[in-house]
Amino acid sequence: MFSLKNKKAVVTGGGSGIGRAIATLFAKQGAEVHIIDLTIESAKEALDEILNSGGKAFSYACNVANQEEVVATFEKIGNINILINNAGIAHVGKVDTTPAVDFDRVMDVNVKGVYNCLFAAIPQFRLSNGGVIINMASIAAWVGIPDRFAYSTAKGAVMAMTLSVAKDYIGENIRCNSISPARVHTPFVDGFISKNYAGKEAEMFEKLSQSQPIGRMGKPDEIAALALYLCSDEAGFITGCDYPIDGGFIKLNN
Ligand SMILES: NC(=O)c1ccc[n+]([C@@H]2O[C@H](COP(=O)([O-])OP(=O)(O)OC[C@H]3O[C@@H](n4cnc5c(N)ncnc54)[C@H](O)[C@@H]3O)[C@@H](O)[C@H]2O)c1
Repeated sequence: MFSLKNKKAVVTGGGSGIGRAIATLFAKQGAEVHIIDLTIESAKEALDEILNSGGKAFSYACNVANQEEVVATFEKIGNINILINNAGIAHVGKVDTTPAVDFDRVMDVNVKGVYNCLFAAIPQFRLSNGGVIINMASIAAWVGIPDRFAYSTAKGAVMAMTLSVAKDYIGENIRCNSISPARVHTPFVDGFISKNYAGKEAEMFEKLSQSQPIGRMGKPDEIAALALYLCSDEAGFITGCDYPIDGGFIKLNN
């Protein structure tokens, strides 16, 4: 079960955190993995990990917010079977403390970046007679996280894009789903804690862990396992769905 043999998978933001866990698991399951990240350096550790364990992988320096770069990269990769739209950035702020420049930056990466990759990937899926897309959303899209206005807005758009694409391409044998993690322990979380809560890192880490009723953050490997299932042939009946993976965050809080 869950073999990805003979599948070509693109993972955006595959150099770190959740994307890295997905890239390495998919390679282990037999996929040829194409990692897109901001720089060759930021993809290097993930690429080396796959190559050193006998997997097949390639990396590309590409900013998902730049459509020309994205289209050129997907043309280079060619026919694909799987797209994981995972690259994303964090932001802390309420609506009145989110300057336009920050709002635009979050939209450029977290919304336009997803659109750009979908736009560039569809012609490559057609060459494979279909395939599977996973968009990385967030529980922020379901419940809105306090002090995450731009981020929650962007993830709401990712969920809506998932439905739109699932409908528009169902006749072309393309399935499209999203995953909505609660807090997962990755450099993304460590980065925004140290940037926004300097001096209170340990306290903030504990607070963020306890905000999942299960009492801890998720692990990147746990998200990767769900992505693997959704991209496998075994999940062939699943499209147009969002999958919370959240330690009880959405349904068990309060
Ligand atoms: N970690 C969490 O708690 C959490 C929870 C819910 C959703 N998510 C989502 O999961 C995804 C991955 O998060 P993570 O925690 O693994 O993050 P991370 O910061 O560990 O990794 C993100 C990767 O994306 C790359 N990236 C960023 N901007 C890019 C761009 N413009 N073009 C190409 N690559 C770019 C980074 O270089 C990095 O390698 C994001 O979309 C995030 O919003 C994360």
